[in-house]
Amino acid sequence: MAARSVFSPGLFNNRVAIVTGGGTGIGRAIAEELLTLGCKVVIASRKLDLLKQAADELASRISKSNPAIVTPLQCNIRKEEEVEALIKSTLALHGRIDFLVNNGGGQFPSPAEAIPSKGWNAVIETNLTGTFYCCKSVYNAWMKDHGGAIVNIVADMWKGFPGMAHTGAARAAVDNLTKSLAIEWAHNGVRINSVAPISPMVCFLLSPAATFVTGETVKVDAGQSLYHSSWEIPDHDKWEPAPEGKNARTLEKLLSDKAPSKL
Ligand code: ADE
Repeated sequence: MAARSVFSPGLFNNRVAIVTGGGTGIGRAIAEELLTLGCKVVIASRKLDLLKQAADELASRISKSNPAIVTPLQCNIRKEEEVEALIKSTLALHGRIDFLVNNGGGQFPSPAEAIPSKGWNAVIETNLTGTFYCCKSVYNAWMKDHGGAIVNIVADMWKGFPGMAHTGAARAAVDNLTKSLAIEWAHNGVRINSVAPISPMVCFLLSPAATFVTGETVKVDAGQSLYHSSWEIPDHDKWEPAPEGKNARTLEKLLSDKAPSKL
């Protein structure tokens, strides 16, 4: 059965997209919606077997009248030369690159004090540096001269990311990178935004409906980041008392009314 989208069929006919991490999870859902809308999609990640299987499954869901094509290409986004090869191969295959979706990423749960330097570097290199390499390479090879739209997938890290400090730091850095690139590349018709996360918002940001939207990070989290934190601070008495005075008395009253973790 063909996949569905709230957007008009054919919205992305004759457009070409690269979706990193497009073989699984959110990346695959984004690739599927782009294909439904007529886009030619290159899905890229390190594991070619997985990618090929995903591409076969995605291809089987494209209806006969839809010009969409899905192609699996192997690429480790941590390696700049592999990213450049991905962009070159996509241009050789389709002759253009309209969209880049930076979804490839990875992390592992760990208390911050136990993250080994190798693990820290791997998470930063994949989520931040890999995203930068993809943006830089597609810009230099194509978008600088032809314009385009980029969407970076980030995470709900607005209150820090306790338990996965490495990915929180990397994703927050991508949020900032998004703003810098949006300004630096605006004059060449390149828009760049971030989504935290989900696929219809990515399609909206790539579409002409978002033609004046750039440098933005859109939260798709049902408002969760406004009210919810998964982290409880254990009760403790480790902080120095506040200096004597009116503020200290106000603080004492507050703390006697509520446990610190609820403040
Ligand atoms: N997805 C997760 N890690 C990746 C990597 N290093 N390259 C491409 N896609 C990825």
